[in-house]
Amino acid sequence: MSSTSATSSTGLPQPFGKAHFIDPYPTYARLRAAAPVHRIALPDGSPVWLVTREADVRAGLTDPRLSVNKAHSGTGYRGFALPPALDANLLNIDPADHLRLRRLVSQGFTPRRVEGLRRRVQEAADRLADGLAATFTAGHHADIVTDFANPLPLVVIGDLFDVPEPDRKPFSAWVSTMFAPEHPGQVPEAIDRIHRFLLALIAARRAEPGDDLLSALIAARDEGDRLSEDELLSLAFLILMAGSENAQHLISGGLLTLLRHPGQLAELRADPALLPGAVEELLRYAHPNQMAIRRFPTEPVEIGGVRIPPGETVLLCLASAHRDPDRYPDPDRFDIHRRDKAHLALGQGLHYCLGAPLARMEIAIALETLMHRFPDLELAVPASTLRWRASFRSHALRELPVTGQPRTGASR
Ligand code: HEM
Repeated sequence: MSSTSATSSTGLPQPFGKAHFIDPYPTYARLRAAAPVHRIALPDGSPVWLVTREADVRAGLTDPRLSVNKAHSGTGYRGFALPPALDANLLNIDPADHLRLRRLVSQGFTPRRVEGLRRRVQEAADRLADGLAATFTAGHHADIVTDFANPLPLVVIGDLFDVPEPDRKPFSAWVSTMFAPEHPGQVPEAIDRIHRFLLALIAARRAEPGDDLLSALIAARDEGDRLSEDELLSLAFLILMAGSENAQHLISGGLLTLLRHPGQLAELRADPALLPGAVEELLRYAHPNQMAIRRFPTEPVEIGGVRIPPGETVLLCLASAHRDPDRYPDPDRFDIHRRDKAHLALGQGLHYCLGAPLARMEIAIALETLMHRFPDLELAVPASTLRWRASFRSHALRELPVTGQPRTGASR
């Protein structure tokens, strides 16, 4: 390991410092070139095995010997400490329980329900763009993170669960605190708030069922007794978190990437048919979720020639895999015409993202709306001064100040 890593109190290298949070890719390039697997310490000192190369990360995602169940973990990093009532979620469960739960959720997550959200997402994007237009017209700059990217996925989750509008913003703040607290002491409180919020929401939906996903999950629980109360709560927790966090940051980070590549942005504006390909390239190049969920070998596992004992924590680094030159020619180049679209941003195998169609739809609508409504959108500050989260899990903007003028006669 090179001298640019700090050393933790455990004696292991700790490669994730301030510079990494602003631009993680040089760290990954260094680690990837040095070895396929590194035993490192995370910022809190907990030891993990970090897998850096694309072929190994891809194989690891579908390796049945790598369990997501904390029961197989030793003393290494285990992810968020959640109360048991929130912990029984898909990303902590192996087959066969995983299959049973996934089937139940998929029933409530039908293509009809997802497609039914398209109009709502577009309406919400238009409404948020109206707000941006008013801000620009008043001569101010806007923050895409707070004024557009964060609220939009919450509309989707809010609609899926039929959450009252005023409750959506505090929820987003708790999730954000959970992932990137100002100090670690805030995390348990944020989790507790989300827990209580979900308990109240489930009680309300149980008293008065609707046509929403949460009501469908409650019916699955109450009718067939195939879903325990903890599983119900944990699933709701996972969908709320997974559904807001990643999409929010990919909208802001995706827009920043496009603004930094004005030639390709102009191409996209001229030909919206290029958008689906651009979304896939953004998922490869700019997705916030740096690591797959932590995994624990159930027996000794060899990855890249390195033997990892059972019970240790393995982190499959998606963001490093996406910049591996052995898979992607010129991997640090953003290229909306790139042919290889088989990225790992939405996972692979059993735990493949349940919200993938929704995620793609949200990102495309968000970016298309911004491009259409604001033809001269630009950064209001130098890119080097942008603030990023201090997190090894998610590479996410804290703010994205932009200026622009609304297109005249812009409404659809
Ligand atoms: C850009 C947006 C998104 C990204 C980058 C993303 C990424 C991922 C990844 C990488 C996994 C697999 C984790 C692993 O195997 O370690 C995953 C799983 C999951 N995602 Fe997403 N996701 C996004 C949006 C969403 C949305 C909108 C929802 C739901 C509304 C969602 C719900 C889920 C669920 C429930 C799982 C667990 C599936 C399982 O374990 O069977 N995600 N996501």
